[in-house]
Amino acid sequence: ETVITVSPAALNFNAVAKNLDDVVTVPAGYSVSVLTALGDPIIAGTSAYANDGTDTDFASRIGDHGDALHFFGLNAAGERDYSASARGILVQNHENITETYLHPNGPTNLSSGPRPAAEAIKEIECHGLSFVEVKDDGTGKWSYVQNSAFNRRVTPNTATTFKGPVAGTDYLKTKYSPSGTAGRGTINNCANGYAAWGTIMTCEENWAGYFKRPSSGPEEDTANRSDREQTALARYGVRSSTGNYAWSSATPTQDIFTRWDARAGTGAATDDYRNEPNQFGWVVEIDPYNPGTTPRKRTALGRFGHEGAWVGKLTPGKKVAVYMGDDSRREYLYKFVSATNWDAADANASNRLAVGDKYLDNGTLYVAKFNADGTGNWLPLVFGQVPNRPATGGFPEYVFESQADILVNPRLAADAVGATPMDRPEWTAVNPVSGEVYLTLTNNNASNRPLNGTDAANPRHYNDPKGSSNQYGNPNGHIIRLREAGDDGAATGFAWDIYLFGADSADADANVNISGLTADNDFSSPDGLWFSRDQNAAGQINPLLWIQTDDGALTDRTNCMMLAALPGHVGDGSNVTITNKDSTGATAQQTTIAGAAATAATLKRFLVGPKQCEITGVDSTPDGRTLFVGIQHPGENGTYDAPGSNWPQSQSGTASGRPRSAVVVVKRDSGGIVGL
Ligand code: FEO
Ligand code: CA
Ligand code: CA
Ligand code: CA
Repeated sequence: ETVITVSPAALNFNAVAKNLDDVVTVPAGYSVSVLTALGDPIIAGTSAYANDGTDTDFASRIGDHGDALHFFGLNAAGERDYSASARGILVQNHENITETYLHPNGPTNLSSGPRPAAEAIKEIECHGLSFVEVKDDGTGKWSYVQNSAFNRRVTPNTATTFKGPVAGTDYLKTKYSPSGTAGRGTINNCANGYAAWGTIMTCEENWAGYFKRPSSGPEEDTANRSDREQTALARYGVRSSTGNYAWSSATPTQDIFTRWDARAGTGAATDDYRNEPNQFGWVVEIDPYNPGTTPRKRTALGRFGHEGAWVGKLTPGKKVAVYMGDDSRREYLYKFVSATNWDAADANASNRLAVGDKYLDNGTLYVAKFNADGTGNWLPLVFGQVPNRPATGGFPEYVFESQADILVNPRLAADAVGATPMDRPEWTAVNPVSGEVYLTLTNNNASNRPLNGTDAANPRHYNDPKGSSNQYGNPNGHIIRLREAGDDGAATGFAWDIYLFGADSADADANVNISGLTADNDFSSPDGLWFSRDQNAAGQINPLLWIQTDDGALTDRTNCMMLAALPGHVGDGSNVTITNKDSTGATAQQTTIAGAAATAATLKRFLVGPKQCEITGVDSTPDGRTLFVGIQHPGENGTYDAPGSNWPQSQSGTASGRPRSAVVVVKRDSGGIVGL
C-alpha cells in the first residue's frame, strides 16, 4: 500500500478552546448532529422515547453510557462491504447507567434493596451493546434505520458461548450451565477492537462491582470457599456488600437477579452462584453481520478488567497479536498472540465466528515488563513457566493448577512473573501503517503508587492542587508507545518511549508540563485512543491519532475533549528530565527518559463535549469523511438543568429535559476528510 505523507504534515483545523458549555463544540467549518441516543427505539414497533423515566423495553432501545463504537460497512444491497461509507452497522458498547434518569423519580431502594423488579430489569437491559443500521441520505445527513434486520441488542441476559481453554472447565460450571460451556450476557462493556474478518471484540471492564460478595461478615462466606477462591476474589475486587445496583435484591425474585449475588452456598457450584463472577472479565466476539449468532467469549485472551482489545497490524504468514489494557490502578498491559498465522483470505470468509475460533481460541497470553533502558519484554503466562504467586496481603501462596487457572486469573500470574504495574492502562491503539502500539495511562494517585513506586514507564509523582484524590501522583496521565522487535507482533521484546504527558498548560510548575502543551492542546486523563483508518482517501494519508479524555484534573475549566495528533514514531523524541517531589515540595527523585514534545502542528484539540460527559468511542467511515463520536453520560452527577446538563436538547438551544448519552456525527462542511 502507498502511504503519502500529507504536505504540510499538519492538522488542518483551528483548535477548539477549552470550555464548560453544555454543547459539543467542534472547529469552525465543521458541524455536529446527533445520530443515536439513549432510549432510541431500534426494533420495529417500539415506541418513541419519552425520556421521563416511564420508558420500558430497553432490550429494544439504544442502551445507556455509550462507550466504544465501530462502523461495519454495507453496500447498497445490504451486504458486507468493508469499504462502504454511505451505509453500515454501528456497533456500540453500553458500559454503565445513570440510574437517576431511568426512572420517574430516580431509583427505589438503591443502596441496599429490595429493588423493584421492573427497575432492575430496565437497568440490566441498559447495559451491553447495540447494533443499529445507519445511513447517509445522499446529502451527508445521517440517520439510523429503526426497522433494519441488522438491529440487535446484546444485554447481560443474552445467551453466550465460552470458547478456548477455559470452556468446559470447573471454573465456568454454574447453575445456568452445568457443563461450563454457556454463559449469560456481557456487562460493563468499555472499549473494543474489531477483527479483520468482520466481527466486533467487546471488552468487559468493571464487572466485579456488580456482584454482591461482602469482604467481611458472615456473607463473605469463607467457610465454603477455598483459599484459592478467596485469593482470586480479593485480587479481582469482588467485594461489594450489595453489588452496584443491588440487583440481587430485586423482588419478585428471579434467577436473572439472584445470579448477581456470588454466594457460595454449601453445595456444588452448580447449586450456587460462586462461579458467576468467572463468567465476566472476557473479550467477547460478536458477528454484527449475522444477528442470529451467539456471542463467543474468547477465554484464551484472559480474564481481567478488560478495557479494549486492539488487533495489531496484520501481515500474511505472521501471527495475529491483540493488545489489551487492564484498567485499574497498578494493573498490567497484556498481549495475546495467535497460534495460527494470518491468512488474508479469511477476511472475506462467510462464517466469521469460525474464523475467530481459528485465531482467538489458541495462542499465548503475555504480559508486559517495561525496563528502564527503553526496552521491554513480553512475559508468557503459560502453565509450567509461571512460578507460584507468593503469599501476599494475608492470602497464602497461590499455586497455579492449570492453564485454565492462569487464564481465569491472569492478574495473579502477572504478579508472579514480575510484570510492570501501570498507571491505569486504558485503550490501546495500533498505527495501521507502522504497527506501533499506543497505550493511554489515564492517571494514578499517591495512595496506589507512592513516590517510591515510580519507575521509568510510570515516572511521575507531583502535586496538582486541583487534583483532589489524584493530588499527588500522576493526576494528568500519559501515553506510552512501543514498537515490537522486528515489527513482528509475535516478538517477545520491544522498544518503548513516552509519547505525551498530560498537563494543565497554565500550571506554573515547569516540571508538570513536560510535553510543552499549550492552551490549544492541553489535556488530562487520556482514555479513548484510536488511529484513523488507513483507507482514508485510498491510503494517501498518514493516519491521525485521536485522543479522548475522561474527567481528570482539568474539569474546573473544561469539559472532556477529543484531540487529533500526528504522533511520529517510537524513539523520535528527546530525553526529558522529570523531577519528582515529596509532599513538602522538596525534590526527592529525578529521572531522565525518552519522551516526545507536542507542537501546534502535531496536537490540537478538535472537540469539547457537554457538561459532565466523558468523550469515549470514535470511528469513521472508511473514506474518513464522517466521524462518529461517543458522548457518554452528560449530566453524570445526577442533576439536570443548571448546573447539570440538558444535552443533547441543549445542542439545539433547548435548556430542559433529561440528558442522554449519544453518538454524534461530525462532518466537515466542505465534505472533506475530517481533521486534515
Ligand atoms: Fe471504562 Fe477504563 O474505562
Ligand atoms: Ca475508558
Ligand atoms: Ca477512564
Ligand atoms: Ca465514563
